[in-house]
Amino acid sequence: MAEAILKVKNLSKHFVIRKSFLSSKTIIKAVDNISFEVKKGEILGLIGESGSGKTTTGNLILKLLKNDNGSLFFNNINITDMEEKQMRSLRKEIQIIFQHTHGTLDPKMTIGELLLEPLKIHRIVSDCEYDNEVGRLLEMVGLSKSNKEKFPHQLSGGQRQRVGIARAIATRPKFIVCDEPVSALDVSVQGQILNLLLELKKSLDLTYLFISHDLKVIKYICNRIAVMYKGQIVEIGDRDEVLNNPQNEYTQNLIESII
Ligand SMILES: Nc1ncnc2c1ncn2[C@@H]1O[C@H](COP(=O)(O)OP(=O)(O)OP(=O)(O)O)[C@@H](O)[C@H]1O
Ligand SMILES: [Mg+2]
Repeated sequence: MAEAILKVKNLSKHFVIRKSFLSSKTIIKAVDNISFEVKKGEILGLIGESGSGKTTTGNLILKLLKNDNGSLFFNNINITDMEEKQMRSLRKEIQIIFQHTHGTLDPKMTIGELLLEPLKIHRIVSDCEYDNEVGRLLEMVGLSKSNKEKFPHQLSGGQRQRVGIARAIATRPKFIVCDEPVSALDVSVQGQILNLLLELKKSLDLTYLFISHDLKVIKYICNRIAVMYKGQIVEIGDRDEVLNNPQNEYTQNLIESII
């Protein structure tokens, strides 16, 4: 059996909100004591309705958010409280692809500049190789090199997501959290992006945590499925087992709702 690349143990994140200055505090248990592993080379799907805590889970793994409780292990190294300085070399190994590219692709930067950014930050290649590497990344995600000079608004949604993927693979990661990477795209383009992610997984030996609220997408791309409901993982198992013989009532309803 493959080793775990990521182990999540008893992870929690609660948000405290106050609707107005005078109202009392409400605690939202966005992620509530979850534990799971992602094995090297697999695609683990994380599915659940809106607000169930999927994005918060992804952001905690990337350490874009600080957890309240629990721990995270990457390749058996406890990264939970690792300082940013120490995290630096690990940062390039763990990447994220977001649903919306407008938050991540600066509209004032050309595609070439956007791809140069991660290459420079993490010193992936030497200075004289930057141009070649940008061209290589574009080709890897199915875009021609001529796109280098363009700005994000000059590309289609699918092309922009390809740039988002190119930025994620630029640092030569081992593990990528894909947070609804096709949900903002036309159905006709979704399949192309999913197939690109599958090809890259194979050629670059990647492991994905694939977040989606769409069971059809999860069914197509994942080996195993974790079902999230109200901040908790209520079911986890091999794709066909979960889909054909769901044990949890919430999973049963989720599957019935799309049949
Ligand atoms: N920064 C925040 N402050 C307060 N509450 C938050 C914050 N981020 C998320 N939440 C709340 O935490 C819960 C989980 O949110 P999260 O975005 O993780 O859900 P999700 O499963 O990704 O949903 P979606 O499918 O809509 O993307 C929700 O109730 C959300 O409103
Ligand atoms: Mg989300």
